[in-house]
Amino acid sequence: MPVSRNYYYFAFIMNVSNHIIKWYEKNKRNLPWRKTKDPYKIWISEIILQQTKVKQGTPYYYKFIENFPTVKDLALASEDEVLSLWQGLGYYSRARNLHISAKLIFNNFSGIFPDNYNDILKLKGVGDYTASAISSFCYSLPHAVVDGNVIRFLSRFFAIDIPFDTNEGKKTFKNIAQEILDKKNPDIHNQAIMEFGALQCTPRKPICSSCLLSDNCRAYTAKNVEKFPVKKNKVKVKTRFIHYFLASKENNFLFKKKQSGIWKGLYDLPCIEFTKEVSKNKILECKEFKDLFIDKFLEIKQVSKKITYKLTHQKLQIFFWHISVSDNIQDYTFFHINDIVKLPKSNLVNNYFNSFALK
Ligand code: ADE
Repeated sequence: MPVSRNYYYFAFIMNVSNHIIKWYEKNKRNLPWRKTKDPYKIWISEIILQQTKVKQGTPYYYKFIENFPTVKDLALASEDEVLSLWQGLGYYSRARNLHISAKLIFNNFSGIFPDNYNDILKLKGVGDYTASAISSFCYSLPHAVVDGNVIRFLSRFFAIDIPFDTNEGKKTFKNIAQEILDKKNPDIHNQAIMEFGALQCTPRKPICSSCLLSDNCRAYTAKNVEKFPVKKNKVKVKTRFIHYFLASKENNFLFKKKQSGIWKGLYDLPCIEFTKEVSKNKILECKEFKDLFIDKFLEIKQVSKKITYKLTHQKLQIFFWHISVSDNIQDYTFFHINDIVKLPKSNLVNNYFNSFALK
């Protein structure tokens, strides 16, 4: 018998799904997206929850549903409106993909959300996890979800040391999740196993002492719970050195809608990036500064302290300069201070702008 078959056999014998569902009925949180079968709302919630935890994601879910109650409302919104509502969550391509897919559903599918795994999977930004979640929660289709919570639980319970971020790991976890799925209740099973990972089998300090499955948990009985899940690739973090310029003329400030990069679609300030730390004194002299502002630069009003800003794959070392200019510069437009509040911006720029504008 191949090794993986053992997992299934073991899970089958002890009916692991049944135990988790019973646990779920007693311990589940009262979450807004669990009160609906509307695939549009479930879709919104799942995309938000890929980006953040339940506590931080819930206000965003309410904001989205309130502003765009149906797929049609989202399809007809402007990109700026959608990105503004997403502001603060990061990973803005998720919001852009939601918008693109809403337009596709509205224009090509008469506004009717697809009702099966394969068609849901065709939506932009939707992968196996989201298609499984929507098709099981809304249509009770037998597709097992595999997210971080599920991987953590399965890796510990079955002591799976295959790194989850490899092709083999992805296949293995999907196969096991699918095998132990309660095919008659895939909706409850999927909610339950994710909730179990989120509340009981937590990343740090899992609550093994009160866990109903601990006697059969291979990691727990071998006293090596902290070894799981196994990850192969450490995230490589690149350091970038960026000087941002809040360039003003009276109460107007220069911004540009970004056309590429992680902040595509957001309004950004003129900036210069360096490969290493550059002293402030050298900035005004450098070619990049002259190219940007040519003869428009008037004076420095303030330079911030160095700000370190961490993203998943990047560490940014930032200085913000508030300068005054005599005219606008190429590709940038002046926006009045009162209109800037509404523009979608990265947290980084938004925080600086607010600290400045709300003074
Ligand atoms: N994380 C991802 N999806 C979730 C859901 N539906 N409920 C709770 N946590 C989740």
